[in-house]
Amino acid sequence: MELLIVKDYDELSRKAAEIVADELKSNPRIVLGLPTGATPLGMYRELIEMYKEGKISFKDVITFNLDEYEGLSKEDPNSYYRFMNDNFFSHIDIKEENTNIPDGMAVDIERECREYEDKIAKSGGIDFMILGIGNNGHIGFNEPAEFFPGFTHRVKLAESTIQANSRFFDSIDHVPRYALTMGIKSIMHSKKIMLLASGKAKAEAIKGALQGPITPKLPASVLQLHRHLIVIVDEEAGALLE
Ligand code: PGA
Repeated sequence: MELLIVKDYDELSRKAAEIVADELKSNPRIVLGLPTGATPLGMYRELIEMYKEGKISFKDVITFNLDEYEGLSKEDPNSYYRFMNDNFFSHIDIKEENTNIPDGMAVDIERECREYEDKIAKSGGIDFMILGIGNNGHIGFNEPAEFFPGFTHRVKLAESTIQANSRFFDSIDHVPRYALTMGIKSIMHSKKIMLLASGKAKAEAIKGALQGPITPKLPASVLQLHRHLIVIVDEEAGALLE
């Protein structure tokens, strides 16, 4: 594992974007796994800047997002589809047909999950997966559980996640209770993984994920088993690391 402890969120965003840009330059047809949430926003902004300055292009890049809420349409301002378009895709030269997000409105959710996983496989698998981490140690929407879930699946969100994500909604009652998420196998099959965390609310989860026992009760701890893991944390998120 490569661990980078940087000063603050801005430095984390710049460093993460630089690493993605280097990967992209060495493989213009890279398949990226992408997260939503507050953490990657700064990295997306930096990547957009680099694109506008002509330093990188996404024209042959393929992306797979980690997750999507069940029951939110593409137009819904809280859907991850909207999040990705508003915060990243609409500002770069990626082809829409090369961007993939699970369909939260699918009538047959199980089939949607199966087809999503097949599509990842047909694209040759994920080369570079970028992850945030929940306060409860989740990655994607793989919540603390008794076992590690496998491939893309439907999940009931943990109360702590509903609480944490309610900041983006009008009221907590509007936060969907279910989501579609890549599973731990989908994530662990990625060739490289980069985990990002910022702020003191993440310090416990980061400590457990990197230095605690490997347990589905803290899903991110499984990343300790990955052979090519890069972790970038700012000083607050890394405060409890030994
Ligand atoms: P955040 O979410 O980046 O908004 O903190 C991370 C996550 O829940 O995985």
